[in-house]
Amino acid sequence: MVYGSPPKWNLGHCTWAIEAFVLEPMVPDYRYFNPRYPYLFNSYYNTVGDRVDRNKRGLLSRPTVNEVYQYRHGVDETVTGIFEKNFTGVRNRQEFLDRLELAINHEQQHQELFFTDLKHIFYSSPMQPVYLETDRSWFDSKKGSSGEAARFVEFDEILTEVGFKGEGFCYDNELGRHKVYLNPFAIAERPVLNQEYLEFVEAGGYRDHRWWLSDAWATLQGEGWEHPLYWEKEGNRWFEFTLHGKIPLNPLQPVVHLSFFEADAFARFKGCRLPTEFEWEYVADQTIGTKNDSGVDSPEISPKKTVSYEGHFMDAGFYHPVTLDPVPAGCGNFWGNVWEWTMSSYLPYPGFKTPEGAVAEYNGKFMNAQRVLRGGSCVTPSDHIRLSYRNFFEPFQRWQFSGFRLARDL
Ligand SMILES: [Fe+2]
Repeated sequence: MVYGSPPKWNLGHCTWAIEAFVLEPMVPDYRYFNPRYPYLFNSYYNTVGDRVDRNKRGLLSRPTVNEVYQYRHGVDETVTGIFEKNFTGVRNRQEFLDRLELAINHEQQHQELFFTDLKHIFYSSPMQPVYLETDRSWFDSKKGSSGEAARFVEFDEILTEVGFKGEGFCYDNELGRHKVYLNPFAIAERPVLNQEYLEFVEAGGYRDHRWWLSDAWATLQGEGWEHPLYWEKEGNRWFEFTLHGKIPLNPLQPVVHLSFFEADAFARFKGCRLPTEFEWEYVADQTIGTKNDSGVDSPEISPKKTVSYEGHFMDAGFYHPVTLDPVPAGCGNFWGNVWEWTMSSYLPYPGFKTPEGAVAEYNGKFMNAQRVLRGGSCVTPSDHIRLSYRNFFEPFQRWQFSGFRLARDL
């Protein structure tokens, strides 16, 4: 699978990024840990130079895993030494820190890819290895989710604002906060469940061209899609491959590992559509809680509050979606568990600017023929997500933990 990388490559690439984004531009006469490594661990940065083809990363039998860890420890020591010497010799202290923050956020993205790539590698192996043994209660948990049809919550027309606001880190693609007008719309209280998507599969949805965009239908036929990635039918029973091995399909779990094409087709089948990223952001904003630094929900203990995105993230150590929390009123379940496809194309916000150098290639050059996903997944680090966070993938890609919720016009 050309989009996935081996674990060793993800590890080496994160280390390379610290060299390429931080050390090389900020430390005069910086010499790479190993002059051959940039060729191996550069992903897509033309500014930095040539690289191993993406689909050949799995062939890198050298350096060994141990050597990749030595690489990381060596670069860590260099960075730590710069802090200990109070940034002596660094071209620009603040820019060094800003670049390091970007490299750390980049590494968090690869922590997610580590799991999504590993899952596909294990799935593709005839041995289908199990990554971790499971506490089955996770899978059996109902958590009050009844499986009843999702409520749709209605919103009036509104002129609102989207994009990053406040302090702290964000990516360049979230900047350019701007006004958007939303027509009256309704959005589902929660993401679509396995049992709902299964109805579509069993109703012959994958054999009926009426639900599919033209490119989607061509992809479906070319790839032989009959159901979501990782689903498998044995006799009359459906199973799903997970990092815990193959498990019976849990009807109440949000459906996951869908392409945009599949999410869009299901929405059409239901007489609905996907939400735009701006509808999603507007509604999700109303569900965010706050907590103070102590982690206690009491503003008296500490006046400083941080935004709290309550959800099922990588930090839980489970690496698979769980059944949903009940939502007493309004909408919920926006954070973690499954990324949510939106119908929005991945485009620049007004005034979008890229920085100088290699990091200019980080986000902007992908603003072509991709769709936006929001909210994070069960393999996203919890402190990586934000209200304005824009993930993006090509519409046929489905190896990420991607699901969706429905919306419709009023
Ligand atoms: Fe990367």
